[in-house]
Amino acid sequence: MLAPLSPTWTQALRRLLRHKGELWQWQIGECLSQTHPGLESHFYLVGSPEQLWANVCVSLSGQVGILGHVYVDPSRRGQGLARALLQQAVEGRDQQRLYLGCRPELEPLYAQVGFTRLSSGFMRRGQQPPPLSPHSRIERQSLTWRHWPLLVEWGAGQSEPKCLEGPVLTMLRTDPQAWVEVADGQVVNWSAAQGPGLGGASPESGRLTHNSKGTRS
Ligand SMILES: CC(C)(COP(=O)(O)OP(=O)(O)OC[C@H]1O[C@@H](n2cnc3c(N)ncnc32)[C@H](O)[C@@H]1OP(=O)(O)O)[C@@H](O)C(=O)NCCC(=O)NCCS
Repeated sequence: MLAPLSPTWTQALRRLLRHKGELWQWQIGECLSQTHPGLESHFYLVGSPEQLWANVCVSLSGQVGILGHVYVDPSRRGQGLARALLQQAVEGRDQQRLYLGCRPELEPLYAQVGFTRLSSGFMRRGQQPPPLSPHSRIERQSLTWRHWPLLVEWGAGQSEPKCLEGPVLTMLRTDPQAWVEVADGQVVNWSAAQGPGLGGASPESGRLTHNSKGTRS
């Protein structure tokens, strides 16, 4: 289903995911509202509004997405529900680049539906981002929700890939001055007063440079 869901489905989903922390509750609410231009959220659900058993969510900015909130009700675990729902969630998405953060022990589950490991608990499905041309036009934009998956992809492209899914949410919520520079649908540079804890100084920033072949360096 594509958000916004009806109020009854929304309530059921929020009940199913009520164990999530406050930051994630906020993110789920924002994605359910479907009010953020350029970000599209799809919820894959098993059950009914009266009894919801499982969820997987995909949030997409163009061809780049985050897959998350994989959850199966404890009473229905071990029956292949997560795998079946994941298969549905990735169907028809071979041209897209999907990222996810997970507990390392669950990497084999996601590998079954085509994800490969970038670093411990951080995986991608789909091709690497295409090389950027040195001639690509770079546009600076204020940080908004549609940059969330793009910044996760930026984190994936670092020499030590790091899942920035949560840290970018904190940037979105707390830093109205944060900005990104985007070229060909990829973040090439960003800056935030309170960065996502990449180990650098604060304020933090990141840069993706281009070499003569136009590949990432
Ligand atoms: C993880 C979770 C989604 C699995 O759901 P499920 O419906 O029981 O999973 P499935 O029955 O589809 O199992 C598919 C595969 O994943 C494996 N798997 C399931 N749970 C696992 C776990 N906790 N640790 C390691 N592997 C696990 C299964 O062994 C199975 O592998 P196999 O085909 O080689 O036997 C479910 O336990 C859950 O909701 N847990 C709490 C939330 C969570 O951890 N979500 C994932 C966040 S990254």
